[in-house]
Amino acid sequence: MKVLVIGGGGREHAICWKLSQSKRVDKIHCTPGNAGIAEIAECVDIKPTDFDALIDFVKYEWIDLTIVGPEEPLAKGIVDAFRKEGRKIFGPGADAARLEASKEFSKDFMRRYGIPTGEYKVFSSYIHAEDYVRMMGAPIVIKADGLAAGKGVIVAKTVEEASDGLRLMMKERAFGAAGDRVIVEECLEGEEASFMAFTDGKTIVPMVSSQDHKRVFDNDQGPNTGGMGAYSPAPVITPGVQKLIMEKVMEPFLRGIKAERMGYKGVIYAGLMIKNGKPQVLEFNCRFGDPETQAVLARLDSDLFEIALATCEGKLSEEMVRWKEDASVCVVLASGGYPGSYKKDLEIKGLKEASKVKGVTVFHAGTAFEEGKVVTSGGRVLGITATGMDVRAAREKAYEAVSKITFDGMLYRKDIADRAIAGK
Ligand code: AMP
Ligand code: GLY
Repeated sequence: MKVLVIGGGGREHAICWKLSQSKRVDKIHCTPGNAGIAEIAECVDIKPTDFDALIDFVKYEWIDLTIVGPEEPLAKGIVDAFRKEGRKIFGPGADAARLEASKEFSKDFMRRYGIPTGEYKVFSSYIHAEDYVRMMGAPIVIKADGLAAGKGVIVAKTVEEASDGLRLMMKERAFGAAGDRVIVEECLEGEEASFMAFTDGKTIVPMVSSQDHKRVFDNDQGPNTGGMGAYSPAPVITPGVQKLIMEKVMEPFLRGIKAERMGYKGVIYAGLMIKNGKPQVLEFNCRFGDPETQAVLARLDSDLFEIALATCEGKLSEEMVRWKEDASVCVVLASGGYPGSYKKDLEIKGLKEASKVKGVTVFHAGTAFEEGKVVTSGGRVLGITATGMDVRAAREKAYEAVSKITFDGMLYRKDIADRAIAGK
């Protein structure tokens, strides 16, 4: 079988890596890919949003299954375009992808199906939003309605900070049209965790839990990023909490997509806040998380291709998805300056040494080949992922591998998984 993976980050490297272990997969193509993916897949330079070119490619290469990594092509309707041509593709259609692409749609969906989430109001007028923020007081959360690459959320500690956020989004249009409508949301407290599940639209099968590290610096300081590291499992998701997540979040979600006839075949990701054992949803994403996927797929015992194919064919079942007992940790190495501006084309050294550490897989994100060398080409550069008998053991191996890698300005958090180990 031939598979096309769309995207070129750490998540897509982890997907390609897991697919490459399948006996049923003969060839993997990836677009655009990166220097690490190029070792296991053939990279092709087609834009993830150029659907015509992608469909031509899939026909020409006789691709059996396409798996979509990032949100943008999903929101723009890649799945609908492929299905119209009778092509198998893993991901939700554009209507369901609004669960991620529009926070207003997502919050309204949660309300319709009784999914626990913070109270909220939606505004398209700056003046009304400002009034409401003053009335509610701080802390309060301001969210741009549309996609803003994980940067359109401000958790404001003061009313002034919230007003500044509203001005930035609605008046200065820092996120363009994404900020024309803004959600003002109750600030939730607790411990965050990520919970992903496979669904073929009929059945929903959970993955193991994980936890992201969104802020750029240690101790959750500095601006939000795409994610600086992850571990799995997240101790806050005890078996009891997982049962509640399935009952209160995942099953109502499935009821909702059925009732609204959304053709959902792919991954649903719930960003959760857990307080006193009760989950509330911060956001839905319609795809695999990054870097959670690197940590989660490192623990998948089953064949990802079989799961993805069954998902697309409406044949998904619990028995198909088995996990290893091992825990995992992924430490992201980023370019100095990220999530702001950063330099590119800096040589990365020590990749081979790092991957020799037992239990470690080096997932590439923003990397490229230049004159025979692997160089940086993006904000998040690598995701050093290790498995071990528990999170502590996995963490130790991940950081041992990190110590072998160097590039100018290399930035990473030194406290990934510390909370899990401290038992907080
Ligand atoms: P989102 O993109 O909606 O997940 O938001 C990014 C980050 O902002 C989350 O991971 C949380 O850390 C934080 N956040 C979002 N919504 C809330 C909320 N209602 N209360 C507290 N923190 C939030
Ligand atoms: N790590 C958060 C996300 O993938 O959106």
